[in-house]
Amino acid sequence: MISITKSILILSLVSYVTAILNDHHTYGTLEYNEYDRPEPIDLDILDMIDKMTVEEKIGQMTQINQDLVLNADGRLNRTAVEYYAKNYYVGSYLNQLARNGDNYDSADYAKIIEEIQEITLSVNSTFKIPIIYGLDHIHGAHYVANTTIFPHGINIAASFNPELAYESASITARDTRAAGVQWTFAPVLDIPVSKQWPRVYENYGEDPHLSSILGAAAIRGYQGKYKSDRTKVAACMKHFIAYGAPWSGQDRDSTVVSDRTVNDYFVPGFQAAIDAGVATAMESYIDVNGEPVVSSNKYLQKLLREKMKFEGMLVTDWKEIENLHTTHRVAATHKEAVRMAIADTSIDMSMVPQDVIFFDSMMELVKDGRITMDRIDESVARLLQLKKDVGLLETDGWKANRDLQKLTGNADDVEVALNAARESLTLLKNENNALPLSKDVKKILVIGPTGNNFGHLSGGWTIDWQGPTDDHWHGKVNDSQFYEKGISVIKGMQSSAPDGVQVEYMNGFDINGVNDNMDEVIELSKDFDAVVVCIGEHVYSELPGNIHDIRLPQGQVDQVAKLSKSTDIPLITVLLEGRPRVMDTIQEDSDAILLAYLPGPWGGKAIAEVLFGQVNPSGKLPYTYPKYSGDVNLNYWRPVSDVWDPLYEFGHGLSYSKFEYNNITYLGQENQEPMQSLVVGEPEKEIVVQVTNNSPVDGKETVLMYVKQPFRRVTPPAKLLKGFKKVFIPAGETKEVVFTVNAELFQYTGVDDIASDTIDNGPVKVLIGEQEFDFNIVN
Ligand SMILES: *[C@@H]1O[C@H](CO)[C@@H](O)[C@H](O)[C@H]1NC(C)=O
Ligand SMILES: *[C@@H]1O[C@H](CO)[C@@H](O)[C@H](O)[C@H]1NC(C)=O
Ligand SMILES: *[C@@H]1O[C@H](CO)[C@@H](O)[C@H](O)[C@H]1NC(C)=O
Ligand SMILES: *[C@@H]1O[C@H](CO)[C@@H](O)[C@H](O)[C@H]1NC(C)=O
Ligand SMILES: *[C@@H]1O[C@H](CO)[C@@H](O)[C@H](O)[C@H]1NC(C)=O
Repeated sequence: MISITKSILILSLVSYVTAILNDHHTYGTLEYNEYDRPEPIDLDILDMIDKMTVEEKIGQMTQINQDLVLNADGRLNRTAVEYYAKNYYVGSYLNQLARNGDNYDSADYAKIIEEIQEITLSVNSTFKIPIIYGLDHIHGAHYVANTTIFPHGINIAASFNPELAYESASITARDTRAAGVQWTFAPVLDIPVSKQWPRVYENYGEDPHLSSILGAAAIRGYQGKYKSDRTKVAACMKHFIAYGAPWSGQDRDSTVVSDRTVNDYFVPGFQAAIDAGVATAMESYIDVNGEPVVSSNKYLQKLLREKMKFEGMLVTDWKEIENLHTTHRVAATHKEAVRMAIADTSIDMSMVPQDVIFFDSMMELVKDGRITMDRIDESVARLLQLKKDVGLLETDGWKANRDLQKLTGNADDVEVALNAARESLTLLKNENNALPLSKDVKKILVIGPTGNNFGHLSGGWTIDWQGPTDDHWHGKVNDSQFYEKGISVIKGMQSSAPDGVQVEYMNGFDINGVNDNMDEVIELSKDFDAVVVCIGEHVYSELPGNIHDIRLPQGQVDQVAKLSKSTDIPLITVLLEGRPRVMDTIQEDSDAILLAYLPGPWGGKAIAEVLFGQVNPSGKLPYTYPKYSGDVNLNYWRPVSDVWDPLYEFGHGLSYSKFEYNNITYLGQENQEPMQSLVVGEPEKEIVVQVTNNSPVDGKETVLMYVKQPFRRVTPPAKLLKGFKKVFIPAGETKEVVFTVNAELFQYTGVDDIASDTIDNGPVKVLIGEQEFDFNIVN
């Protein structure tokens, strides 16, 4: 191993700027400014770069997929590893390690990755540099067997609880590290403008502020003090940028979007991630207004590096450089694709990932003088600094910590997963207080294709890329690979049922709504006091999740209608879906609707607890739920002139408690008179709201604070979320919630210079509940 001299910072321009969207909460035991962040390069790293060969440097920039070195039986092909190490000095590997569809557990992962490390380190090279391994651990270490799998990002968003983002990320980091892996490609910080997009569920919803706060919390959970704490991993903010607004709603379609929309809606989450110290970033698959992001100087150099001040390591998405030639069609040859991506942007690593064509093209481009050594050194510096920061350059720093392996799947982790599920479930409708199920309900019939398995609770990116599903062409994973680490809806209902309550399950119909034993269900339902219908979507991720119609499958709609017409008992609909599928008549046919999103394998227990009233629902919609299939691009912040008729608005979510907002005061004065000024550059002012739980049921309420500028130079958004606080309020009690406001909350990208932050003078409003506060902006 090389010995690393004590590090010296050559620059200390660490930027703790951009305070407006920063969340200064502390989580765990660290103070806000104690978290590590990528910083300018250490001198010892620059020394190494001086001595390395060009081949070794390009190898560091090369990331390949596991399938190049795994045999068909899932065992490591040592010859192949040696080949890529000796000839290409490959610096990084990615993706799940599995045998016949079964993922290895953390001990076996660590063994395989350590073998890759040993072979890599045995090759004759200037320095012994371990590889860095990366995994898409976006909701738990779900590619490692027997770890705790958490709800997806969309559930964390619905919980409006950053603590849960932090804790689940923190456990994911530890379980990832236990497997000998130092890097996760998470959090996912896109803004899913299109609700048809198959990646809605990976993200934190349609609001930039919510996404910023939760993303920053997750990054702190993944990374903590990652330069010394070896239970942590490098996080990766993705996918930069504007990925969530595909023109057609289909994954990887072009985005057509103004610079202003990019700056005001897509940038904030990534800026918050940078401010929280995110170590790495991944660019996105798409072209923005015809310009592929992967070759964009505008987005990856001017915006990301120069304006947003990202100093960490930047990786491409899967095969994206090659795609410049094959799908984006902006490069006539592969070699030109490599030139564009590297010479014109600040990309550091190519996720090549299934050949070494990137390496070969780079070598030729260097020989031709079309890519400079300075450009390569800039990337290698960031790559080696990352490896040093996560401990890979320390003696034995590439070995997994065996002690962490014993912790995977422990009961405390499961409790976090359960709490995240509990806090995310969103009660959309509750006619005649159908929920919680009344004491008179003694016999419950659970039906539907999502009610008896882990797969539909968990969605894609679970155990396998496409998730556990047998109803999909790609499906090769089923419930057996969860090793009993989860609770289905029916199991949850049966185990949580009060004494004397009987719960039974029948399929009824499949995920397309095709009749299975529905006639029998209808006949039998007459003997039951309530029916719980579990419906939703196929399991999918990315491209295979593309759909041409956002409505739920017609068969499901028809089966629910049939059931509703033929019985008088309460019909409770539980929706397990990654995106808000248009419900059609299911909305009227259901007495109550519980939106569960993708709460993870433990979600069945959380759902049962909510139905029985053992848990009071507190989730709120992190997106606009469309009523019509033509309204897939509606977001709550769209200008008011739009036709606005969603089924449920962003922030909607019922509780078993009744909350009232009273006595909202500004600086201690009720109904402030005269109108207060917000002066640009002046300190924040406080608004205090008293929230009373006017019911006999303890509950949690998320108080949302929006801002609105009725008139400004550029058509204003309808309103924009700028603050939220989730509070627990026991029955009959009142809690005070404090928000701060300043003029900067009204900043936007102006009309004169697209890059300029603008605040227009004039009247503005702050909205909390039904209350409006009037202020006047003075510049
Ligand atoms: C292992 O990799 C080498 C080199 O790539 C290849 O020739 C060989 O067929 C592989 N072995 C197996 C069993 O796949
Ligand atoms: C997962 O854990 C169970 C025990 O809970 C064990 O039987 C099973 O073999 C483990 N699976 C793997 C792949 O390690
Ligand atoms: C290792 O590499 C160095 C420099 O490239 C070379 O001089 C040396 O002969 C190599 N050693 C072996 C055993 O290949
Ligand atoms: C689930 O997958 C395993 C292989 O991982 C297989 O042995 C088993 O038969 C499958 N079960 C079902 C119900 O398909
Ligand atoms: C409003 O708050 C003030 C200050 O906390 C308190 O004195 C007053 O009683 C409250 N009024 C109501 C109606 O709750």
